Amino acid sequence: MSYSYQIQSLEQYKEAYKQSIEQPEAFWASIAEHFAWRKKWDKVLNWNFKEPKVEWFKGAKLNVTENCIDRHLATDGEKPALIWEPNNPEERVRIVTYNRLHKRVCQVAQMLKNNGVKKGDRVCIYMGMVPELAYAILGCARIGAIHSVIFGGFSAQSIADRLEDAKAEFIITCDGAYRGEKIIPLKSVIDDALIGNKTVKRVIVYTRTRIPVSMIKGRDIWWEDEMEHAEQQIEKNGKIHFEAEEMDAEDPLFILYTSGSTGKPKGVVHTCAGYMIFTNYTFVNVFNYQQGQIYFCTADIGWVTGHSYIVYGPLSAGATSLMFEGIPTYPDAGRFWDIVDKHKVNILYTAPTAIRSLMGFGTKPLEGKNLSSLKVLGSVGEPINEEAWHWYNENIGKKKCPIVDTWWQTETAGILISNLAGITPSKPSWATLPMPGVQPVLVDENGKEVIPTNNETIAGNLCMKAPWPGIIRTTYGDHERCRTNYFATYEELYFSGDGALKDAEGNYRITGRVDDVLNVSGHRIGTAEVENAINMHTDVVESAVVGYPHNIKGQGIYAYVILGKHNADDELTKKHILETVSKIIGAIAKPDKIQFVRGLPKTRSGKIMRRILRKIAEGELENLGDTSALLDPSVVDEIKNNRL
Ligand code: WT7
Repeated sequence: MSYSYQIQSLEQYKEAYKQSIEQPEAFWASIAEHFAWRKKWDKVLNWNFKEPKVEWFKGAKLNVTENCIDRHLATDGEKPALIWEPNNPEERVRIVTYNRLHKRVCQVAQMLKNNGVKKGDRVCIYMGMVPELAYAILGCARIGAIHSVIFGGFSAQSIADRLEDAKAEFIITCDGAYRGEKIIPLKSVIDDALIGNKTVKRVIVYTRTRIPVSMIKGRDIWWEDEMEHAEQQIEKNGKIHFEAEEMDAEDPLFILYTSGSTGKPKGVVHTCAGYMIFTNYTFVNVFNYQQGQIYFCTADIGWVTGHSYIVYGPLSAGATSLMFEGIPTYPDAGRFWDIVDKHKVNILYTAPTAIRSLMGFGTKPLEGKNLSSLKVLGSVGEPINEEAWHWYNENIGKKKCPIVDTWWQTETAGILISNLAGITPSKPSWATLPMPGVQPVLVDENGKEVIPTNNETIAGNLCMKAPWPGIIRTTYGDHERCRTNYFATYEELYFSGDGALKDAEGNYRITGRVDDVLNVSGHRIGTAEVENAINMHTDVVESAVVGYPHNIKGQGIYAYVILGKHNADDELTKKHILETVSKIIGAIAKPDKIQFVRGLPKTRSGKIMRRILRKIAEGELENLGDTSALLDPSVVDEIKNNRL
C-alpha cells in the first residue's frame, strides 16, 4: 500500500494546506476515501463552537478495527503489526502479525460479549504494556464498547473516581506489570479501587507476572480461560470470524481522563471516524511513514500518545508498531539504543524528558550500538529545549534524521502543529507549521487576534478557529464542562491552554501552559488536583502548588504548605504528605519540594497570588512584581528566606 494522500514536498504541503482551509469538506472527504466504510457519510462536517457541536462524516457507518486490521489481511496478513519488546531483554520478543492480531482481537470481542459487554458500555483498562493491552483496546472497539484506559501509575483512588465518572461495569487488568526492577501490583490496586464500588460487574485478569492476586468469586475471572473458550467460538471451518459492530461515525470510541485547572480530571471523549482519519493522516504525513518501516513510539498506552501513535494511527496505516514494556534505563541507559539496533527501527518517537534523562548518562551507552536504520526522530509532550534537540540530532540521528517536534494534546487526538519529516523545514525548539486542516490563531487576554505590524514574532494564547476531525467532542457525562473548559474562554475559538510565539514565516513555538496546569515529564498534572491531595493530609491546613524548571522533568512540582500542627520531625511529615499524594493521585503527582510556610501571599479578597509563589520557586527573588495588593507582605519575606 502506498498513501496517495502522503505529502511529498513543501509545495504539496502548501497546496494541501490551502485546499484544506478553503474547502475543508472536499479536502477531508478526499482523505476519507482511503478508508473502509460500511456506508459513506451524508455530510462531511457540521459544527458550531457555541454549544460546542462538532460532527464529522455524519451518517457514515464503519468499524475502526476493520480499518486497523481486516482491510490489511488480504495483502499484509503475515506482516508484523506489533513487535513487542519485553521489560527484561532476556525474555522472548513477540511478533504479532496482522493475521494474529485479527484473531486475538476477535477473541477479545467474543470474550467481552460472553461477559455481557454491549455497544456503548464503558470498559476500564488498567494494564501494563503487553500486547494484550492492544488486543483489549481493539476488542472493545470491535464490539463498540467504549474503552477508558487508565495509566498504570494512577492510584486506587484515582481509578475509583474514573470508574464512577464513567459508570464502568467492566475492568480488564493484569495481575502485575513489570517496570524495570519493580513489579506494579495492578490487580491489587484495582481491588482497592473497587472497595465501595457498586457498578463493576466483572474484572478480567491477564497473567503477566504471576504475583499472588485475590480473585473474588462471581466477579473476577482469568483472561486465559475466557480467551480459550472464545477461541473455540470464533473458529469455524478453520476461519476466524467475529462480526464487527457497525458504528456511527460519531459514536464514541473511547474516553481518556486528563487533568485541567480544576480539581477533577475530565473524561475526554473521541469518536470513531474523525479520530481514526486524523490519527492516520497525521501519522503517515508527520513521520513520512513508508511501507515496511519499523516504527517505535516509546510512550505508554495509558496516555493519548500511545492510543493515537502506537495503536490507532499506525495500525490503520498498516504499519509495524513496536511496543515496549520497560523503561529507558533498565537494565541500563542503553535500552532504547539496543532496541533500535536489534529491531532495525526506522522511526523513533519519544519525549524530551527521556532524551534529557539519557543525555545525563553521556554517550557511553551508545557505544557499539548501530543506529544506522534510523530515518526519522520525533518529540512530543513538552517543548524540546535546544540542548536536548541538538543532542538528539547529533548523537541519535547522526545529523541525518529530521526531527519532528509534534505539538498536540489529549483533546486534539492527534498532531496539530509539526514539521513533516524531510518535507517541511525543522527549526530547533519550534513545532513549526500547522497540519492541513488546522487553523491556529494567537489571541491576547481579551480574545483579540494578535496581528504582527512589522513581520515581527508575535506572542499570544494558542487557539484554533475551526474544527479538525480529531477535536474533542465532549467531556464524558458533562458537556457543559467541555464548553467552559475549551470553548468559553474566547468566543468562537477552541482554547488549548498553551501560550505560543509565531514568527514571520508562520512557524509556531509553544512556550508552555498559561493555565494552572503543570507538565511534569510530559504528563499533565493540575495544580488544584495536587493541592486537594495535599490538603487531605490530617496535619495540613492549606497549600499552594506551582511548577518550577526541572532539568529532567521539564517542570517540577513545588508545594507551599501550611501545617495546622507541627510534629517533632518535619522531614517525616513531608514523607507523610508525599505518601498521601501517592494514595490520592499516584506517585507521578508527588511534589519534588515541600516548603512549610506560616502563611500564603493572598490578596485582601483571599486569592492566592501564585505569580509570586512561582517566581520564588523559580529562584527569582528580586523582581516579584506588584505586591501592593497583598494582605500581609511579611509572609513573602519569610517564604523567600526559607526557600528550598
Ligand atoms: C500539553 C498536552 C500530546 C501528547 C502528550 C501530552 C504540551 C505537548 C508539545 C510540544 C510543546 C507540548 C502542551 C500541551 N505539549 N507536545 N511538541 N511542544 N509543548 O498530552 O497530556 O494532553 O498534554 O503538552 O502544553 O497543552 P497532554
